[in-house]
Amino acid sequence: MGCTFAKNAKDGSNQDLNHAGAEAPAAPPPQDPRIPLTARQKFSISKSWKAIARAMDTTGVSMFVKLFEENKELLLLFENFKHLESREDQESSEELKEHAEKVLGAVDEAIDSLEHVDTCIDFLRGVGKRHTKIPGFKSEYFWRMEAPFLAAVKETLDDRYTENMESIYKTTIHFIIQTLVDGFEDKPKQKAA
Ligand code: HEM
Repeated sequence: MGCTFAKNAKDGSNQDLNHAGAEAPAAPPPQDPRIPLTARQKFSISKSWKAIARAMDTTGVSMFVKLFEENKELLLLFENFKHLESREDQESSEELKEHAEKVLGAVDEAIDSLEHVDTCIDFLRGVGKRHTKIPGFKSEYFWRMEAPFLAAVKETLDDRYTENMESIYKTTIHFIIQTLVDGFEDKPKQKAA
C-alpha cells in the first residue's frame, strides 16, 4: 500500500496531519453493538470455552446442583428429576446429566455463533420462548442460573479462570440470559445498527 501520508507530509501538501485516518493500520471490522463483547473478548471466550465443552457433563451437573442448592423450589419444575432431593442423588442422575448437557449445549451454540449476531440472538430467543411451555416457569428464573453458571465455569477452569476471563464470562452470561428473557417475553428484537 502506498503511503500518501508520508508523501503528502514530505511535499507539504497535507495541511491536516491529524486527519491522516486513511493511513491508520487496518481498522477492525465494525462490531455489532447488540453483542456486548469486543472482537478480542469474543476470541478469548471461544478459546476458553473449549475447556468447558470438553467437560460439559461435569460442569453442567455442578451448575444444576448449585442452582437447586440455592433455589429448592425450582426442582419441582423438572418432571424428570423433581424427586432428586439430595445432592448425591442429583450428582449421580443420568436424567439430570442429560438435561444439563442440553442447557450447556445451548450456551455452546450461542458462543459458537457470536460472529453471526442474528443467528445467535434468534437461537437464544427461541430457547427462551420454548420455556413459556413449561408450567409454572417465570422469566425471572433465568437469572437464577447466572451465579451457578459462573461458579461451575470457575470450578472447571480453575487457574485458567483469570480476572479477565471472569469479567468476559459475566458479560456473556448476562447477554445470554437477557436474550432468553427477551424471547420468553416476546420483546421486540433490536435491529442491526
Ligand atoms: C442459561 C439459562 C438456561 C438455558 C440456556 C436453558 C436451556 C434449556 C434447553 C436447551 C432446554 C431443552 C428444551 C428446549 O430446547 O426447549 C431447557 C428445558 C427446560 N428448562 Fe431451561 N434453560 C435455562 C435456564 C433454566 C432455568 C433457570 C430453569 C429453572 C427452572 C429452567 C427450566 C427448564 C425446564 C423445566 C425445562 C424442561 C425440562 C424437561 O422436562 O425436559 N431452565 N432449557
